[in-house]
Amino acid sequence: MTLAANKTLVNITRFRQDFPILQQEVNGKPLAYLDNGATTQKPQIVIDTVRDYYERDNANVHRGVHTLSARATDAYEAARHKIKDFINANSEKEIIFTGGTTEAINLVASSYGQSRIGQGDEILISTMEHHSNIVPWQMLCQRTGATLKVIPMNKHGELLFDEFKQLINARTKLLAIVHVSNALGTINPIEAMITIAHQHDVPVLVDGAQAIAHTSVDVQALDVDFYAFSGHKMFGPTGIGVLYGKQELLEAMPPYQGGGDMISVVSFSGTTYNELPYKFEAGTPNIAGVIGLGAAVDYLTNIGLDNIAAYEHHLLDTLTDKAQDIEGLRIIGQAENKTSILSFLVDGAHAADIGELLDQQGVAIRAGHHCAMPVMEFFHINASARASLAFYNNEEDITQFIAALNSSLTLLR
Ligand code: ALA
Repeated sequence: MTLAANKTLVNITRFRQDFPILQQEVNGKPLAYLDNGATTQKPQIVIDTVRDYYERDNANVHRGVHTLSARATDAYEAARHKIKDFINANSEKEIIFTGGTTEAINLVASSYGQSRIGQGDEILISTMEHHSNIVPWQMLCQRTGATLKVIPMNKHGELLFDEFKQLINARTKLLAIVHVSNALGTINPIEAMITIAHQHDVPVLVDGAQAIAHTSVDVQALDVDFYAFSGHKMFGPTGIGVLYGKQELLEAMPPYQGGGDMISVVSFSGTTYNELPYKFEAGTPNIAGVIGLGAAVDYLTNIGLDNIAAYEHHLLDTLTDKAQDIEGLRIIGQAENKTSILSFLVDGAHAADIGELLDQQGVAIRAGHHCAMPVMEFFHINASARASLAFYNNEEDITQFIAALNSSLTLLR
């Protein structure tokens, strides 16, 4: 069941027409794009916004005295304002543009981690993290002498809440937890986890990469300390992401990288840093990416995340029901509360072979470890096949996927 199980279903299938890439055939078949966990497609408005920016307004931001630079700066800062509203942050100062979720987490690990975490401290993560929410903390532990602790999960792919409560203690300096697992689709109870973490004065970073396009996120209601997400997983450009951080935390943190725009005054006797959010945005940023992301936010807001969540819930139920009828198919990740992802294996068939044969029939999925090798280890598997949904997927995509899977399996088994 997803978060939106009780919401009324609104017909949003017409929005599929906004995605030119989905209107093509691949290998002689209509494209059924079911690899949205890896990246989402871009609506025409995002493509046009980026193109228009390069055709009319391209200039550097915060630097020029000329008209193009003023236009670029206005559009860049307007996008920051849109993102602030989208996640209900308190201020634009709390919206830091990064290269993506990975860089956002590395920023916190580097800046917050090195100033606040040391020998004997503990960082708490979970078994179902993506590598980008494991490796930066392992690197921090190596540098500081801190220890990484891991919340276990059950065979359905749900975190063991009692174990979480046992693991958090006076040595814990940060909880870094994924909102929606990219390998399982599990929606973690982050609100309850944040409440418990705060009872122990432990700040919480949430990896929202797989959640941001599937459920509404209100950082103030969650009271989350850091929330990271990527533009390309929410119908925006690649190479752009966001770190939300509470202002008082960001104010106290040292810069992550040095360079232009992040300074106030530079001299050889010392440098003072710029105010938020610029302190964390050294160098010329991904201006077109930011502006394109602003267009994606407008687009998503217009459809409504609650409508998207309800529709995807229905679609995932349909997909799951049909997949379960296939003999020998095992679903990896059957959490009570999950969204948009069907990770599976079929007896007698390798995930990679399934992926290749589906591609020959116009169906795009991912097969592999999904950058979540500890999840694979937990289930004693090397890889899974994964169909991942977005709101533009429809019943025809599911019918095509199931038919292609059945015909692939007759070849493989
Ligand atoms: N993290 C992305 C995925 O799950 C790339 O496919």
